[in-house]
Amino acid sequence: MTEATQRKRIEPVQAVRHSFTLTDNETGESWELPTIHGSIGPKVIDIRKLYGQSGVFTYDPGFTSTASCSSEITYIDGDKGILLHRGYPIDQLAEKTDFMDVCYLLLHGELPSPEEKSDFDTNISQHTMLHEQLVRFYSGFVRSAHPMAIMVGVVGALSAFYHDSTNIKDPMQRMVAAHRLIAKMPTIGAYAFKYSLGQPFLYPENQLSYSENLLRLMFAVPTEDYEINPIVARALDRILILHADHEQNASTSTVRLAGSSQANPFACVAAGIASLWGPAHGGANEAVLNMLDEIGTRDRISKYLGKAQDPEDNFRLMGFGHRVYKNHDPRAKVMRVTCHEVLNELGVQDPTLELAMELERIALEDDYFVEKKLYPNVDFYSGIILRALGFPTNMFTVLFSIGRTVGWIAHWKEMLESSESKIGRPRQLYVGNEPRDFTAVAQREHTEKKSSWSWLWGGNRNSD
Ligand code: ACO
Repeated sequence: MTEATQRKRIEPVQAVRHSFTLTDNETGESWELPTIHGSIGPKVIDIRKLYGQSGVFTYDPGFTSTASCSSEITYIDGDKGILLHRGYPIDQLAEKTDFMDVCYLLLHGELPSPEEKSDFDTNISQHTMLHEQLVRFYSGFVRSAHPMAIMVGVVGALSAFYHDSTNIKDPMQRMVAAHRLIAKMPTIGAYAFKYSLGQPFLYPENQLSYSENLLRLMFAVPTEDYEINPIVARALDRILILHADHEQNASTSTVRLAGSSQANPFACVAAGIASLWGPAHGGANEAVLNMLDEIGTRDRISKYLGKAQDPEDNFRLMGFGHRVYKNHDPRAKVMRVTCHEVLNELGVQDPTLELAMELERIALEDDYFVEKKLYPNVDFYSGIILRALGFPTNMFTVLFSIGRTVGWIAHWKEMLESSESKIGRPRQLYVGNEPRDFTAVAQREHTEKKSSWSWLWGGNRNSD
């Protein structure tokens, strides 16, 4: 198949119907801006020709009102708390199917037939091993390294090992890269954990399901049989489904932006992992547990709610609020139910869950959180479940990255296969100095200030 036949036009479903008129009140000039309608969701104003016609940019830090692309993969209605993957509601997917089915759906656009599903499962399972040279990378990290630091490094390094799937113009190579990334992420993540413990790495077992294999790689040791708990495997699978995609979030946008320059998929996903690591994004589930540990007891909840509302205090209630959801995060609803099921079925008594529920109850009745429409997000409960399943806190974001890899790669593929795709290059509102003449160093004013770098060497370069 040629590249040309692969590039398809992702067209808005309905044709241009209305337009917006933009008027410059200073000059009286006006421009007609067409609106485009998607299949569902708000219409968008097409500003692609605005700068060419009018010489003005739009200003939208954080992209709060800007659609950076058109996409067929995921739909969110943040006001109604709706999340659809390829049209299927997230709660149905989480309850009725497994992670591999969702991966196929996100990558290919339709649920697989039984034969396609079986082929896909086999295909993924055959890519789970890492190149032996790549395994040696781990010994270069300190044992105390955060596993997300290892993920960024090792996933980026995949591009040095799998050259035969880095030609992004070849649809077959794109698909092989997608399969490799999905298949190898559990191995890479589990090895980061094993390395921190000083335990030997296990080879993947391809007859196990995706989640079973991940559990075994994480928790088994070569000296003993490892029995997989089906409740734990099912809960983990559900967590992976709930994290599989979330339209143009920070890490997915990072992957798209990196990929827009035609970088290889392994490097792009490494960039996505770096973005996910931040506590405002995927790092929040780890931050929630740290916060709950810091709060400690019910009687201290009001103090922390007060801190969250104090404009002078940087503290935020982790696991609350979302850029898009101004209603319940539908993933958080499923996560809450799963959390109770898992703790009941495993017989885990976790006072942190009780503290979390009390915090949620009080926050949802608090005027500040009500007015700002701050609801628990997916991360509020995921940390508690993951801890009950036996995962250490610093592995939470790693698990998020394993689940999100399919979303990243589905968006990367969609972008490359779209005829609209261009290198991402936002513009800016420049607020710096106006043009001025250079001054030679001898003519510049003297300052008394110590070098701002002095903290690096304690003011004395010879001290080391
Ligand atoms: N606790 C206290 N106040 C909050 C919180 C919070 N968790 N979230 C938002 N607010 C307040 C802000 O202080 C701000 O108040 P202001 O209008 O008086 O200035 C207002 O609500 C709007 O907040 P923004 O930061 O402008 O909202 P934005 O959409 O940019 O941020 C975000 C969304 C980053 C998720 C934010 O809600 C947050 O920091 N939450 C905590 C971190 C978290 O849980 N992240 C996980 C997100 S889900 C995910 O990535 C899978």
